[in-house]
Amino acid sequence: MICLGIESTAHTLGIGICKDGAILANEYKSYSQPFGGMKPGDAADFHSVNFDELLNAALSKANVELSQLNLIGYSKGPGMAPCLRISRTGALLLSTHYKIPLVPVHHSVAHIEIGVHECKFKDPLVVYVSGGNTQLLVKKNDHYTVLGETLDIGMGNAIDTLAREMNLEKAHGGEIERIAKTGKYIELPYTVKGMDFAFSGLVTRCAQLLPKSTPADIAYSFQETAFAMLCEAAERALMLVKKDEVLLCGGVAQNSRLQEMVRAMSEENKVKFGVASNPYNRDNGAMIAYTAYYLHNKYKGNYPDKEYSINPKYRIEDAPA
Ligand code: ATP
Ligand code: FE2
Repeated sequence: MICLGIESTAHTLGIGICKDGAILANEYKSYSQPFGGMKPGDAADFHSVNFDELLNAALSKANVELSQLNLIGYSKGPGMAPCLRISRTGALLLSTHYKIPLVPVHHSVAHIEIGVHECKFKDPLVVYVSGGNTQLLVKKNDHYTVLGETLDIGMGNAIDTLAREMNLEKAHGGEIERIAKTGKYIELPYTVKGMDFAFSGLVTRCAQLLPKSTPADIAYSFQETAFAMLCEAAERALMLVKKDEVLLCGGVAQNSRLQEMVRAMSEENKVKFGVASNPYNRDNGAMIAYTAYYLHNKYKGNYPDKEYSINPKYRIEDAPA
């Protein structure tokens, strides 16, 4: 079965193709936001302008023609409505024209399922850390249940805000990771409440300290503090659910220091640690293609969600998984 997956929840347009679950293509292109943030309409324009080229790039990489497709997945949400409409419209058009079944995929479920697949895991505690979301989850009765989550902003958004406070040209976690390498530790606010945590106080304190401190010290201390908070909450969740696998996934999971800390926490608790490779942790189309394939099979061709709409506020607990 050949499946096409289309992702456009935010700044990235991703088109992936898999055959019987094996990834054949994973093409993406990201709208680079101007300093200060992104206008959803501009990102959506970027996605529509690049759609055809990216689709053809994915098809030729996979050596597949549109008429050979057996299934199409698209990201239904959560995300920015103008951006979501691009993948949904593209998917609906192709599905109607070629008479191919459609699977509306929850973006976060896709971040998780591609990781489960890549790490060959069965039933992990999931540490999902990306731009808009930071959650600890387990699968229960064919849905993901949130055990703990950020009480304010997602860790990636916190990191990007910090990068903007530092006036970095590229407000991105990869830059903060690079700058942090030579930093020394400064004490910062640490907010964990059971299995929940919060990041905005940490960002505010970093912004206050910036004029007197080096960007390296701030970046380093931010990472050490935020990642330690997440590890503490994850360890508590692990004690509660007693899983023997920990999966780290989402855009921020590309950070090597975060990988190192979650791996250390897992090893101390004698459980397996897994993280997918970077192209599958950033926003991408392969995770949508794989997850659509996985869900189609799991539900024997009858995936329960037949509403081929978008849902900008789609909660993960509401998505069949
Ligand atoms: P969500 O999945 O919550 O909807 P998203 O789709 O906007 O988030 P992702 O691609 O999943 O985005 O994650 C993007 C986030 O990951 C950005 O905030 C980015 O700064 C962060 N990120 C990427 N690489 C790194 C890194 N090396 N270190 C820390 N953060 C990183
Ligand atoms: Fe994402």
